[in-house]
Amino acid sequence: MSKKKIKEIFIGSNNKGKLKEIADLLPKSLKLYSNLDFKIPSPIETGTSFYENSLLKAKYFSKKTKKICMSDDSGIEIDVLNKKPGVYSADWAGKKRNFNLAIKKVYREIYKKDKNWKKKKITARFICVLTIFWPNGKFVSKVGKIEGRISNIKKGKNGFGYDPIFIPKGKRLTFGELEPQKKYRIDHRFNAFKKIKKFF
Ligand code: IMP
Repeated sequence: MSKKKIKEIFIGSNNKGKLKEIADLLPKSLKLYSNLDFKIPSPIETGTSFYENSLLKAKYFSKKTKKICMSDDSGIEIDVLNKKPGVYSADWAGKKRNFNLAIKKVYREIYKKDKNWKKKKITARFICVLTIFWPNGKFVSKVGKIEGRISNIKKGKNGFGYDPIFIPKGKRLTFGELEPQKKYRIDHRFNAFKKIKKFF
């Protein structure tokens, strides 16, 4: 990897929720490129871990754009579901990425495991691996997590994906109810970003 501070970067994601959050984390002086300008289709995520998929995406977008590129692979692990949906978090939302369906599936799968689940604490965590990939082939990947539990009803209109059903540890509100700026300063993406921010 290069010792020079990064001055411009391509954010390799087609997920608007992630783009917004990543843009908020990065210094305002940085020149940002994203698929809002380039329209490059996402690669098929063939990896079986957050690390593999994060690296695969950052490398793919860097090769396509010839720029330094940052990608995120993330998802939610629910302990009672043996850490599912995990790397398949986006897939549970179907081809049209309908998270109402994904959340229904989460509730259905938890119910299959335990009919009394609403009276229990269903522990879960969000995980994010951020990778920076340089055109010379060097890369750095770092993981961030946030522990919490699954809310037994969907709450809040903020955020994206599974935000309306995730209550971070020590809080009463879901990520969907928290102000975006509050979520952005505690979550899995922020915790991964802290470990790579020296490159900017
Ligand atoms: P992928 O990294 O493109 O495979 O997608 C990960 C999926 O995990 C996203 O589509 C979201 O549904 C979910 N996810 C990741 N991070 C968050 C988050 O901060 N809030 C809610 N859902 C998330």
